Amino acid sequence: MTEHLYHKYVKHMTLEEKIAQLLQLAAPFYDEPGDHSEITGPMEELGIGSETKLAAGSVLGIAGAEKMMAVQKEHLKNNRHGIPLLFMADIVHGFKTIFPIPLAIGCSWNPELAEQSAEIAAREAAVSGLHVTFAPMVDLVRDARWGRVMESTGEDPYLNSVFAKAFVQGFQGDDLRNDVSRVAACVKHFAAYGLAEGGRDYNSVDLSERQLREYYLPAYKAAVDAGVEMVMTSFNIVDGIPATGNSKLLRSLLREEWGFEGIVISDWAAIKEIIAHGAAEDEKEAAFKAIWSGVDIDMMTTSYVNHLPELVAEGLVDEALIDEAVLRILKLKEKLGLFENPMRGADPVLEREIVFSAEHRQVSRKLAEKSSVLLKNEGVLPLAPEQRVALIGPFANSGDILGWWSWTGSKETAVKLGESMRILSENPGNVIIAEGSGIDSISESQRNEALKAAADADVIVLAVGESSEMSGEGGSRSNIKLPQAQLELIELMKGLGKPLAVVLFNGRPLDLHGVYDLANAVLEAWFPGSEGGAALADLLYGKVNPSGKLSMSVPYSVGQIPVYYNSFSTGRPKPEEETGNRYISQYLDIPNEPLLPFGFGLSYTDFSYDGLTLSAETMKADQPIEAKVTVTNTGKMAGTETVQLYIRDVSAEVVRPVKELKGFKQVELAPGESSEVVFRIDESMLRYHHSDLSVSSDRGQFSLFIGASSKDVQAASFRLLK
Ligand code: GLC
Repeated sequence: MTEHLYHKYVKHMTLEEKIAQLLQLAAPFYDEPGDHSEITGPMEELGIGSETKLAAGSVLGIAGAEKMMAVQKEHLKNNRHGIPLLFMADIVHGFKTIFPIPLAIGCSWNPELAEQSAEIAAREAAVSGLHVTFAPMVDLVRDARWGRVMESTGEDPYLNSVFAKAFVQGFQGDDLRNDVSRVAACVKHFAAYGLAEGGRDYNSVDLSERQLREYYLPAYKAAVDAGVEMVMTSFNIVDGIPATGNSKLLRSLLREEWGFEGIVISDWAAIKEIIAHGAAEDEKEAAFKAIWSGVDIDMMTTSYVNHLPELVAEGLVDEALIDEAVLRILKLKEKLGLFENPMRGADPVLEREIVFSAEHRQVSRKLAEKSSVLLKNEGVLPLAPEQRVALIGPFANSGDILGWWSWTGSKETAVKLGESMRILSENPGNVIIAEGSGIDSISESQRNEALKAAADADVIVLAVGESSEMSGEGGSRSNIKLPQAQLELIELMKGLGKPLAVVLFNGRPLDLHGVYDLANAVLEAWFPGSEGGAALADLLYGKVNPSGKLSMSVPYSVGQIPVYYNSFSTGRPKPEEETGNRYISQYLDIPNEPLLPFGFGLSYTDFSYDGLTLSAETMKADQPIEAKVTVTNTGKMAGTETVQLYIRDVSAEVVRPVKELKGFKQVELAPGESSEVVFRIDESMLRYHHSDLSVSSDRGQFSLFIGASSKDVQAASFRLLK
């Protein structure tokens, strides 16, 4: 498949030129005076000469058709073999049109819209000169202290796999060579980065291979099976070995077992960081371990450039290994059509026309509407247009609603909540806006301003949350409550005795003490993207009925973490009802259950679930069964319900979770309308990794649950016969 590339390029390249193809430099190495490139990792002087730079294989963080074309043109002028640069960047949930953060998208349970958001992100990125996006991030997350939960679609391997496939398909499409509106995708961070101990970013990860395969790998595998072109290594160790120097993970599993033939790229400086981990004495040893593990691209260090030549000269690294890596990089450049057209889809004229277009922003607005989750509502929402509303809080009219990975977006043009509510209110003067507090400070004048704004209001809406820097990479928090100043603001407003709704802007599930207990309504907006204010106003005024469902549990408190729905029973499970027995798995001071469970989300209407039936009490591998339930909209407003299917293997060779998501269906129902929802249960759903890592199902008893969340379910049971 790559012989022609070997004969055309590789065999004419010097060893140094081949190794330079493995180097990825960040945008500042190509910046003109006054450029402001995005830096997403520790910058240090790499000490490379212009010769190496001009032979480099790829660059990250350059965006803009004209800039890219100028850099590519300059590069081709000087590259001896006419090999074009690959342009890569983090386009995680939007380019200029920013979509809700992936954790929010996970709460939409809408892979079709997720795919559409990735397609639009690709379209805007490609016309701006990009070829590869460092997305999707599919790390499974169970610890809200970790700042990067905002990048994940949540705590469930099945749901994350559904979204991983959707994102890859949206970014890449089916024909990267001829469809220049798409970009290659890079699934990350391989592997299990989300299990960072203590939720502290870059911290150690330790888990059994069975846990790794059962819970943490499925979404990466879904991306590989969907044809993802690249895989990015994670910063953490896996089974004691840094992922970036881990040949068992990268060669045996990823390439040999899964058959992945694409490019493996290190995360920023992760090859050199093998030293800091304590698994290499120096960069030479780090380079040795990385190349032997099959890492093709060295992001932002000179470990490869400085040390692979001597490793080859000393016979410690076969030049064939380097040829293999170079060929994978050239193969992607060929797939993208860069040899014929090094500028590919870059088009400054078209860029001005389609980037941040009204059509794209409309999709972002729709996804934000579907990603927000109504967590509580004691009849306060939806608002009536004639109501006098006091909108108070640091997010009342803030543009900081895009989230951490939105470097190509614009907070200035983000649609703000206050201005959007005024449009929907009967009279703009009905919406009185006051900041009330800063993110983590509150002054006397802000308090007074809030009290004044609330004085004549019928209802108070508090727009509070985390700034975008309080989550994202390097954004771990040990205390996941709202900042104290905002809790004070909420308490001050509660004291007025008026209906109180809270809209949350945040990048992680929060400890909602002082919020959930005081508010009459809580709408979780996450970071809703470029059209966030408009989407939230639609939801608050009932133009759109909330339909989001949590894709990550909201903990009762940080002390409960990690808390997730698909946990094991333990030998002394805590019974539903209080027994006074101390010797059970419990806390003395808080409940075991999260405040709000995976799959939870309210609507302005109500849905009933009736008549759960199975087509048979027993099934076989070749005799699947069906589970049916009738869902009815018993309220007064049309709405969308995400009906969830969970299964429990009651007794297995290794313990199995008390519930596992195995399917979901969304039904849109008018008031009074019913729908019969049917799930096919087949034997493949019942398979799991046994203690010897073989994957199969066991005959025996299974529980089946269908409902509106992982907690609110109806149950049935069946047996698998062998
Ligand atoms: C960062 C992130 C990774 C990102 C890369 C390039 O450190 O870990 O997700 O794609 O560097 O910006």
